[in-house]
Amino acid sequence: PPAHSKPCVSITDMAVRYVCYKGINFPPGYNSEQSLRFAETQFRVRDDDVFNVTYPKSGTVWMTEILSLIRSRGDPAWNRAVLNSERSPWFSTQLGLDAAQTCPSPRLLTCHLPLQLFPKAFFSSRAKVVYTVRDPRDVVVSYYHFSKMCSSYQDPESFAQFLEDFLRGDVPHGSWFEHVRAWRQLKGKDNVFFISYEELQQDLQGSVRRLCQFLGQELEDADISSVVENTSFQAMRENDKCNSTLLPRNIMDQERGTFLRKGVCGDWKNHFTVAQSEHFAMIYRERMRGLNGAFPWEWG
Ligand code: A3P
Repeated sequence: PPAHSKPCVSITDMAVRYVCYKGINFPPGYNSEQSLRFAETQFRVRDDDVFNVTYPKSGTVWMTEILSLIRSRGDPAWNRAVLNSERSPWFSTQLGLDAAQTCPSPRLLTCHLPLQLFPKAFFSSRAKVVYTVRDPRDVVVSYYHFSKMCSSYQDPESFAQFLEDFLRGDVPHGSWFEHVRAWRQLKGKDNVFFISYEELQQDLQGSVRRLCQFLGQELEDADISSVVENTSFQAMRENDKCNSTLLPRNIMDQERGTFLRKGVCGDWKNHFTVAQSEHFAMIYRERMRGLNGAFPWEWG
């Protein structure tokens, strides 16, 4: 075969065709062009909404647990009884829209939407956004493993190939660089809060305190400790309302991986070759020009 032809893919892989909306691919199944268009143009934002926004694999499910527990003042009952997707619906998906619209206020809502596809109504509202960012090298590693176990994603050919696709922005939810750069433009707005996966790892208690302040929720020290305890990697792994084990096998194949996989910073070092890491750094510097030092991760 010609050198540029791709190796054969299996029938299951071929069955995954991404939904393309305004030039960005989304995993099928949950998303449709219609649900994405509705989210962007017609979704009614309420002033007391709190949006949990991330690029995939940046700590979305972790933040949902944190926000839910802050809302219930550290009482873990809600997190243990109700599925995360019902506590904080994915309003831009077909299934999540219903849950979001019937959700009583104040709502928690989750999405991976890039800024340009986010509900227009947000920008004239007093609703809040919590945006969590993560070292893109750990994101790509986590995304690679996730793609293997999630049926709505094409099975990656190899890590090397997936890394190239990621750097080109040719993965579901689009380019990490563009997602982060666009959302960062909102830094300084009083209804948008930026936090990183690395900060959560380094100082969960302090992060929870800052989140409470942003949300205008005053919690006692004991309540904050309970938020921290119940959002540890171990506690979340044991809670089937957030560890994804309740999802059917045809959505998430638990034999092909674990959703709460490692939960550490720097796992990229176990996956990248020296050449890959240099190549990544070069592209990162180019694409993130002007944002040097803006994030907690280090290069080298
Ligand atoms: P890894 O694959 O590196 O383990 P998302 O929810 O955006 O899909 O992100 C999933 C990533 O966040 C996974 O990363 C997962 O293990 C990690 N994660 C989730 N909860 C966590 C927690 N309490 N502590 C540390 N990492 C957590």
